[in-house]
Amino acid sequence: MVVLTVSVSNSGEAQDKAPEANYDEAKVPKYVLPELLKTNDGKAVTSAADWTKVRRAEVLQLVQDNIFGTLPPNDIKLRTKVRSDVKDAINGLAHRRELTVYFTDDDKGPQMDLLVYTPVSAKGKVPAFLGYNFNGNHAVEKDPRLHITESWVRNDKEHGIDKNLATEASRGSESSRWAVEKIVSAGYGLITIYYGDVDPDFDDGFKNGIHAIFEKPGQPRASNAGGSISAWAWGLSRALDVLESDAEIDAKKVAVFGHSRLGKTSLWAGATDERFAMVISNNSGCGGAALSKREFGERVGRINRSFPHWFCLNHRKYNENEQALPVDHHMLIALAAPRPVYVASAVEDQWADPKGEYLGLYHAGPVFELFGKKPLPTDVMPDLNQPVMTDVAYHIRSGKHDVTDYDWEQYIKFANSHLR
Ligand code: GCU
Repeated sequence: MVVLTVSVSNSGEAQDKAPEANYDEAKVPKYVLPELLKTNDGKAVTSAADWTKVRRAEVLQLVQDNIFGTLPPNDIKLRTKVRSDVKDAINGLAHRRELTVYFTDDDKGPQMDLLVYTPVSAKGKVPAFLGYNFNGNHAVEKDPRLHITESWVRNDKEHGIDKNLATEASRGSESSRWAVEKIVSAGYGLITIYYGDVDPDFDDGFKNGIHAIFEKPGQPRASNAGGSISAWAWGLSRALDVLESDAEIDAKKVAVFGHSRLGKTSLWAGATDERFAMVISNNSGCGGAALSKREFGERVGRINRSFPHWFCLNHRKYNENEQALPVDHHMLIALAAPRPVYVASAVEDQWADPKGEYLGLYHAGPVFELFGKKPLPTDVMPDLNQPVMTDVAYHIRSGKHDVTDYDWEQYIKFANSHLR
């Protein structure tokens, strides 16, 4: 019997001591991945039409019911207000807007701020990257004109975040992760949102963020009711709703991007909303691109105990029991097909299982092939800093769990061949 000890750290995230994460490839169990190209009643899926008409919906349902849970309803009326609009951002290269999107008629109710950059030199609508940030829009750039988020933020002494409120000290604290200058100089727009606007990232029993609109207090939770990742994915789709009537962004060419927990989110958003033209997962790891059945690095039980609010309750059935999962993350990635998908790893990020991330993308390949798209050519990972780009793409870069300029350079290159 495995005895689990769970304690809660200062950050509010549970840290359990056992079972230890496995970092030894020789200890990866023999596993069998659920079949992508066989319907639930055992029929072979042999064409793009079979996938689109029958199998895709089955796979989507399996991923929903066993991993992330349902998304909130999407039939709500959105209102938008311009908070700021400047033409001289990023050394004069970017037109920058802050747009507040209200989810109800109440100006004090749940809302999110879109931080939108477009190249000043653009002639007409531009393709764009859309993704959440971790610390607030004001953390993307050290410009005192940016509104400091009023949403709940994780305490962070280094950046003066105390009592879960952001302060001046956190301006620009996440700028190294957002290569805005490179993005706009390459002719792309960038839209980023503080993820805590949509759902603050702590386990509050689904009362705050957009849950306040959709959940009734005291109501029992369905075993497949969505957790925070579903809420965040929903928020990205609402951002896309707004962008559909934007004069500067080409909403048909929006790549959904995310790092880490937000990379799990971008994959799920790309799966649930086929309007996203491209999907990018940066170091998304367990619950993202990595295969759970490899039981390498972070595992299902550990993530469910550390972050009880991210997934649906059904996902807990697979704690220390990954081989019983009727799905795995190659199926999540396959839901993006035939749209281009980029999965990226970092070599020092073994917690996220780079090999499992690579294999997640590799094993999604047969669905891309049904559409005449070129998947990853081999199950052998490329060398460090040697991206492979076909109709899907992968790289493992040197360094740690992070988003770097190197990552953005590759995403821009991949977008140049698929979003232009
Ligand atoms: C933790 C968590 C990961 C997650 C990461 C992040 O490390 O265990 O699953 O991806 O946080 O979001 O930064």
